[in-house]
Amino acid sequence: MTRRKYVVGNWKMNGLIAALDEAKAIFAAAEAHSSVDVALCPPFTLIGAMVAAAPGAAVGGQDCHASASGAFTGSVAAPMLADAGASLVIVGHSERREGFDESDADVRAKAEAALAAGLSVILCVGEPRAVRESGGAIAYVLAQVAGSLPGDFDPARLAIAYEPIWAIGTGLVPTVADVADMHGAIRAKLGEQAGSDAARVMRILYGGSVNGENAAELLGAGDVDGALVGGASLTAAKFAPIVEAAASL
Ligand code: 13P
Repeated sequence: MTRRKYVVGNWKMNGLIAALDEAKAIFAAAEAHSSVDVALCPPFTLIGAMVAAAPGAAVGGQDCHASASGAFTGSVAAPMLADAGASLVIVGHSERREGFDESDADVRAKAEAALAAGLSVILCVGEPRAVRESGGAIAYVLAQVAGSLPGDFDPARLAIAYEPIWAIGTGLVPTVADVADMHGAIRAKLGEQAGSDAARVMRILYGGSVNGENAAELLGAGDVDGALVGGASLTAAKFAPIVEAAASL
């Protein structure tokens, strides 16, 4: 089973209308590498404008509510993302799990709402530093997978992103062997929960301080099907080399 490489930029709370030129440059650079799926997840406010600026490009949200509509001031529902032209959404990012107290059950409900709205999903998992240092990282992450994975889903539309919290925005990255071990363990868990056919199709991305220098090594690790990139996704100059690295594998 050959899984297409998938490189996704998470702009987090960055980007004004003026940043659409960078988005256009990123998607233009990505066009040269047709073997790689590339997507950008800007803030909600930019989704419609980015879709209009880069027709046909994959643009996504960074979160969605578990309900399709209702009295939830400040929240955005999955059908609204789809209506704005998004084709995917990130759920369960550690900055939401930690900063907004999202549980595995919350993340699962969001993933199910997104799939029901026709979106693809990137479901994030990852351990804090203390858990990594105690040797419990794999058990911790597999419990997150078990608790957050929807019950029934199209495996082509659901990717997992392994993002060790201590590697996000820090310049620290796990060893390639640790990444390969974790991704292999996640794939085995997906096989148990969703069946071996689904586990073969599902993409597992690595995220946390990915840049143009380390991308080839990290993306070349066993069971790594792509990258979820924060800081280095904000400009074409930094993001394009990561897409190139993915294309070279
Ligand atoms: P950095 O690439 O900035 O470490 O962020 C990773 C991340 O959180 C992507 O979702």
